[in-house]
Amino acid sequence: ARVFSHHDVVELAKYASVPVINGLSEFSHPCQGMADFLTILEHKGSFEGRKLTYLGDGNNVATSLLFGAALLGMDFAIATPRGYGLHPATWAIGERLAALTGATIAATHDPVEAVTGADVVYTDTWTSMGQEEEAQKRRQIFPPYRVDDACLRLAKDDAIVMHCLPAHRGEEITDAVADGPHSVLFDQAENRLHAQKAILVWVLDALK
Ligand code: NVA
Repeated sequence: ARVFSHHDVVELAKYASVPVINGLSEFSHPCQGMADFLTILEHKGSFEGRKLTYLGDGNNVATSLLFGAALLGMDFAIATPRGYGLHPATWAIGERLAALTGATIAATHDPVEAVTGADVVYTDTWTSMGQEEEAQKRRQIFPPYRVDDACLRLAKDDAIVMHCLPAHRGEEITDAVADGPHSVLFDQAENRLHAQKAILVWVLDALK
């Protein structure tokens, strides 16, 4: 179910006689996260000791990246403008998961601090579905969090750049970065298919 309110997917799961997969809610985007960590594994070979940095809006995608990184033992840093960070209750879940694996998680408003030494640099739209009336205001606030060449130079030399798409070129990511040698955007998009096939297989197995 691809919904707006997370409550809807929880309600569906409560009353459905079959498993319900969250295909995106305003709270989280776990299918995207599965594809993203598959992509990281393909390009980096491992999670532990690697740093995933997310720049921009503390949204559904950021939430699933926090949870996934913490579960997989990958260090996670997020830089957002003030007032656009992850909800404290979400962060508390991330802290509990990170304590299980030894991953470090860090939230800041300083994009330089977050991106320095990153193995993976991730961004998403500044305005998610349902927030369209805020788009103009957000365009004024978010530019310091744009992933451009200067930002990328602070990451590791072999860092990969990720975006869940659709990208707003010239806003959260520049053309040069989206189309540049560090970009894995299209591998990542392809992996939505493979990761979601795996989720279906797992769910069908669980029903046996
Ligand atoms: N954060 C974005 C993800 C789109 C795939 C949104 O919710 O609109």
